[in-house]
Amino acid sequence: MNIPESGIAFDRIADTYDADSTNALVSRWLRRQLWAWLATLFPSGSYLLELGCGTGEDAVWFAQRGVRVLATDISPRMLALTEQKAAEHGVAARVQTQLLDFDRPESWQLPENAFDGVYSNYGALNCTANWSALGTALARVVRPSGCAAFGIINRFSLLETLWHAAHLDLRTASRRWRGKAIAQIGGVDFLIYYPTPRHFCAAFGAAWQPRMLRGWGIFLPPSDLYGALARRPRLFRLLCGLERCAAHFSPSAYLADQFWIVLQRR
Ligand SMILES: C[S@@+](CC[C@H](N)C(=O)[O-])C[C@H]1O[C@@H](n2cnc3c(N)ncnc32)[C@H](O)[C@@H]1O
Repeated sequence: MNIPESGIAFDRIADTYDADSTNALVSRWLRRQLWAWLATLFPSGSYLLELGCGTGEDAVWFAQRGVRVLATDISPRMLALTEQKAAEHGVAARVQTQLLDFDRPESWQLPENAFDGVYSNYGALNCTANWSALGTALARVVRPSGCAAFGIINRFSLLETLWHAAHLDLRTASRRWRGKAIAQIGGVDFLIYYPTPRHFCAAFGAAWQPRMLRGWGIFLPPSDLYGALARRPRLFRLLCGLERCAAHFSPSAYLADQFWIVLQRR
């Protein structure tokens, strides 16, 4: 399979991804909120498809709760780490892996109506703008009434804009506004796409009914500022409390750093 630039980039940083990203204090806290939310959507016994699984953090958590997961990614190294993590946690039987490009859903060979749901987190789906083809392909493989739950980096992040504008870095302050920007990861340049929640729902298509929208990162800063916050535990606790309150107010999803969205297959 032809590996796109985004896959090459993440493959190169796969071995340090957990230390640098997954285990950062703010990431851990956010993932705990995410898990509480996912647990209500996908009960034990479900069979799920994960897109852009990374090192398998979510897949292993699901498997420990009796959910079976087909964890997919375009980075072979990420898939190897997912298998290793599943084996270390004793849940290898519930986590299968597969090399799959979510940017080319027409090439998938997945059975129809096989999954109870699909999920993808931490901005994996920002590595494509092909959300329309993705929505169509997922409507074929997820059973009717099954849910799709995604964590996506937002087009407008109030905090990021204010922070960088206050530091007179207007270029970074407005970098997402065009809906795409070049990212550099592992020394590889590739495009990252930033939809608004409305734009994402429209592109995902009529086969999916929006069910829930939540914003995260109204008070907690974007990932490049996680390190600074980790050194200020009292501020961190205060922002977490404020964040929890704001998350229940769905219009905040239009100004938060990332949004979590649930769509249901019609
Ligand atoms: C920011 S990481 C998120 C990983 C994981 N979901 C998490 O919660 O930590 C993005 C992941 O998407 C994968 N990815 C990027 N482009 C992809 C594509 N076209 N098809 C499938 N996976 C892709 C990368 O290899 C990487 O593992």
